Amino acid sequence: MIEKIKDILQSVNSFEIKTADELEKYRLEFLSKKGIITGLFTDFKNVPNEQKKEVGQEINNLKQAAQQKYDTLKDSLEESTTDNSALDLTRSGEPLELGSRHPISLVKNEIITIFSKIGFTVAEGPEIEDDWHVFSALNFPPEHPARDMQDTFFIEKNPDILLRTHTSSVQVRVMENQQPPIRKVFPGRVFRNEAISARAHCIFHQVEGLYVAENVSFADLKQTLMYFAKEMFGEKTQIRLRPSYFPFTEPSAEMDVSCSICGGKGCNVCKYTGWLEILGCGMVDPNVLESCGIDSEKYTGFAFGMGVERIAMLKYQIKDLRLYFENDVRFLRQFRSAY
Ligand code: DAH
Repeated sequence: MIEKIKDILQSVNSFEIKTADELEKYRLEFLSKKGIITGLFTDFKNVPNEQKKEVGQEINNLKQAAQQKYDTLKDSLEESTTDNSALDLTRSGEPLELGSRHPISLVKNEIITIFSKIGFTVAEGPEIEDDWHVFSALNFPPEHPARDMQDTFFIEKNPDILLRTHTSSVQVRVMENQQPPIRKVFPGRVFRNEAISARAHCIFHQVEGLYVAENVSFADLKQTLMYFAKEMFGEKTQIRLRPSYFPFTEPSAEMDVSCSICGGKGCNVCKYTGWLEILGCGMVDPNVLESCGIDSEKYTGFAFGMGVERIAMLKYQIKDLRLYFENDVRFLRQFRSAY
């Protein structure tokens, strides 16, 4: 009997196991209810009493050894299979979804870059403003309709504190704090009490420009804007200036660019005129310079202001302003390749 047990122990030890199938074969052969070791317990009944202690101990040792081998191999097999799938360092990673810049940011940055190439630096001012910086210093008469409740969001009941309706307010802040030469652009959000539609929104973005120095002329303004239009919309772009009115500039003009979609032939984007209006501009009114503490006898300047949404609409042919604010990823994704 002892001999038999030793033989079995040897076959237990030499049994090679590399796969789960082999492990199961091993279990069936040695450890299952019908396996060899269980069979030994049946034989044990026939062992003479005086040998029972010794033989019993041997069988137990064998059983323990066989079970231990099984447990260890089972653990290592499980580990290696789970490890293989979790730690395959050669597998390519999950692709990371990259975000994209918002079209308004893209266009705003492009405008800033274009002007920075000709020496304009960036300044910013507060969105919550006072009447002086948004209206009075910019030569708006007290009864001017733009101060009307219809356009301006006032903060609480104080009519002096309001959300800026244009970035021209930053002109005032800069000129109050700095003497010419001044050559800056002012990007920012503006607010108007308008019903939201495809063509109007109560929040939008502007970039304002200001150049004040000695001998600045309307020709400088025109040349600067022509440079901008060609950089923004392409070398073939033409501009035209139409006389207009703004309280803070004299003379004032609105600038159109030739329609980049039809090349000036006429299409539904330019309403068959061949031209698209993109900004307001003019020579800074001497009253504005004086309000800000700048000598209007010595210095002249030009200013311009443009809507970023409008320029982005023309550039990307976006038909509805509301798309900018909905943050629908199907819309935003389309600008992924832009930067
Ligand atoms: N502030 C004007 C607006 O919001 C735009 C504008 C027009 C700005 C003429 C200027 C300018 O600096 O000279 O409609």
